[in-house]
Amino acid sequence: MAVNFRGRSLLTLLDLSRNDIRYLLDISHLLKAERTAFQINQRFTGKTLAMLFEKRSTRTRCAFETAFGEEGGHPVFLSESDIQLGAKESIEDTARVLGRMFDAIMFRGFSQKTVETLAEFSGVPVFNGLTDMFHPTQVLADLMTMEENFGHLDNLNFVFTGDGRNNMANSLMVGCAVMGVNCTILAPDSLYPESELVDTVKQIAYDSGSVITVTSSPEEAVPGADVIYTDVWVSMGEEEKAKERVALLTPYRVNRGLMEMADNPEVIFMHCLPAVKGNEVTAEVIESTSSVVWDEAENRKHTIKALMVASLL
Ligand code: CP
Ligand code: NVA
Repeated sequence: MAVNFRGRSLLTLLDLSRNDIRYLLDISHLLKAERTAFQINQRFTGKTLAMLFEKRSTRTRCAFETAFGEEGGHPVFLSESDIQLGAKESIEDTARVLGRMFDAIMFRGFSQKTVETLAEFSGVPVFNGLTDMFHPTQVLADLMTMEENFGHLDNLNFVFTGDGRNNMANSLMVGCAVMGVNCTILAPDSLYPESELVDTVKQIAYDSGSVITVTSSPEEAVPGADVIYTDVWVSMGEEEKAKERVALLTPYRVNRGLMEMADNPEVIFMHCLPAVKGNEVTAEVIESTSSVVWDEAENRKHTIKALMVASLL
């Protein structure tokens, strides 16, 4: 089925169909090949992108900024200390003003509600560059990286281990379910994803022919895994939970033993980065030949460019 992504926002992968994601991934692979061949295009000439940040970023900021800028567009970085974002001016009013001046907005911050309000009131496409709830552009890069490694996504066995209720676990569950990837969330009971989201995702997975599992048992989760994925134990904004998380999550660290438990010589290790080596993953695993984290980081740029090409041209 033909996909028309023009003018669309990306707030959560729950809004995307399998065809939509397929379309974005196909463009991503083409754009990566183009970039690798040093082909220069100027697709965004005359366009502007507002980049709003309440939280820090290396990959997401650089991916949006370089992807937009190298195609002739003008990205404008606006941190919380630069503009009135909900402090002296409401999100609604900020959105209305930015919508009059920019062709698109990307937002990284705390509340999912903020990115939704920006989309509702700006009248231009809005891209979620991470909230407490979701990190959809990261998952596009993750799916692309899995496809590069295995040549397909169908019925791969994906295991996320760690904080099962954070933005990455939430978004990965959705992305896997939409694309027909079997997804297991391996986490202690107290960090299981919200049951309402799990129920929604299970329905999506049923339709795509994949299976979603939530378990606290590595022996149940890991054998047969194609991908072992983890994220930081303490997400941005939760710094006061650091001690408690180390105690809870140490049994869920990705180390050589956990990788070997997959019993799959082709298993790959993934991480959205930044990583706290020695916490959620050992230096040995992240530096091993099974680790694809640097490809994954690079793919942020190609997938984000693809999203903007699909939405803005
Ligand atoms: N993975 C990711 O979003 O990285 P940054 O926080 O550096 O943007
Ligand atoms: N869960 C992490 C992801 C960072 C890309 C955080 O929100 O800090």
